[in-house]
Amino acid sequence: MYTSKIAGIGHYVPEKVVTNNDLEKIMDTTNEWIVERTGIEQRRWFNPDEDTVSNMATKAARMAMERSQTKVEEIDFIVFATITPDYFFPGSGVLMQRELGLQGIGALDIRNACSGFIYALSIADQFVKTGMYKNVLVVGAEIQSSALDKSTAGRSSSVIFADGAGAAIITRSENGKGILSTHLHADGDFAEELYVKDPGSSRKVRLSQELIEGPTFNLTMNGNAVFKHAVVRFSEVIQEALQHNGHSPEDIDLFIPHQANLRISNFVQKQMNLPDEKVFNNIMHYGNTTAASIPIAISEAWEKEKLKEGDLLCLAAFGSGFTWASALIRW
Ligand code: UT7
Repeated sequence: MYTSKIAGIGHYVPEKVVTNNDLEKIMDTTNEWIVERTGIEQRRWFNPDEDTVSNMATKAARMAMERSQTKVEEIDFIVFATITPDYFFPGSGVLMQRELGLQGIGALDIRNACSGFIYALSIADQFVKTGMYKNVLVVGAEIQSSALDKSTAGRSSSVIFADGAGAAIITRSENGKGILSTHLHADGDFAEELYVKDPGSSRKVRLSQELIEGPTFNLTMNGNAVFKHAVVRFSEVIQEALQHNGHSPEDIDLFIPHQANLRISNFVQKQMNLPDEKVFNNIMHYGNTTAASIPIAISEAWEKEKLKEGDLLCLAAFGSGFTWASALIRW
């Protein structure tokens, strides 16, 4: 049995910066409210003439390949996590594959929202561990800004979600370092607490004027329910990963939570009794980019030299589904 490691990580965010003051101009909100309740100061929104989910992912992937010194032709398989694909079908995995010139290799799409990157990482880890593939390209990429209700009615979610992409090269590791374990969970009882209902297929008519004018194409979130479940599940799934590997919270060198809300991250940090220098957050600059948030954060943490060889890195996520997941990695 082999082990797998993150050999390189990269990210891309759209150029357009949208500050809280910009949002004040289009809805009834304030910079103070957004900063106090979410920690977000600004986010990136895509440029419809330039950015697509798959081309943002391609840019992040090229950075990850360069940093891991992996040639594009060495990639054996793609796992693409997004809940905002370019097309209704096929998924964005094949579009990125085409852009990279990798026609022929397998491309799998994952729709596990905020937990999507860890689910994708887990799948890549299994393929590498069994020896089936040597280099798997894992990405998380989202364009959320086009599905947000930017009127005052949608303000509790439209101030949070944003756009971006992150990518990792998962490679066979010969020295025992790398992904120690991953832990995946879901509870469909809460599917409608955070979702985009349409265009759903289980309708007599998939698209009608009435549907288009209604609210069901926008992201709908019961923020309080998400918050309450998130803080419990985050802690549980981190403890599960630590116990599985015989570790305790003080062994963690760096904790990178899915960037859902700074208050959630701070709450979990407190529960785990982790000092500030062991937790990396960048939601202030990018908002909540769903499946992209963890790889963007790992990439930035690596750039800022907060991740050193041998560090114990803990990742955890919670989101729509509900789904939640963790990974423990010896960097
Ligand atoms: O990746 C996982 C995805 N989601 C999350 O992690 C979200 C988890 N939940 C949250 O982050 C929080 O629940 C929110 C940030 C979404 C909301 O914060 P909250 O502290 O739970 O506020 P609330 O929904 O209880 O609303 C409090 C008040 C309400 O006004 P009233 O009824 O007290 O008069 C809202 O209408 O704040 C109002 N409000 C806003 N005010 C200004 C809601 N959104 C806004 C806004 N600006 N953007």
